Amino acid sequence: MPVMEIRKAGDRVLKEIAAPVEKIDRKIKHLLDNMAETMYSADGVGLAAPQVGVSLRLVVIDVGEGIIELINPEIIACEGSEEGTEGCLSVPGMYGEVERYATVTVEALNRAGKTIRINGSGLLARAFQHEIDHLKGILFIELAKTIHKG
Ligand code: NI
Repeated sequence: MPVMEIRKAGDRVLKEIAAPVEKIDRKIKHLLDNMAETMYSADGVGLAAPQVGVSLRLVVIDVGEGIIELINPEIIACEGSEEGTEGCLSVPGMYGEVERYATVTVEALNRAGKTIRINGSGLLARAFQHEIDHLKGILFIELAKTIHKG
């Protein structure tokens, strides 16, 4: 599976509103495979399709508990708030303190086309919100209270 080029802040695709996936076909499944490969090879915990130049609502996440694939994800419930440090493969070398919901529930389709709901807190909740923001053209540096290097 090929590793894809990760687009960096300033690339127009990162500012676009990603389109919903209409049909989960072989191309979409292949793209999910390549996104996971790209995320792992870059040592990331999440990657959204716009980051590899594809403006579709697709996300992969692995915070150390195995791969999570989300197709057309939406946050359907949220609770609390928590500040934490974030980075992004599209903004290399920069980190920021971002306030996020402490717990979120995400609804999405899996690659079989089945609706799934995942409840996440801590790093997983943060990853859900960070990656879903990518689908809205939002980067964490626009939300961060403070930004620092390395
Ligand atoms: Ni990111």
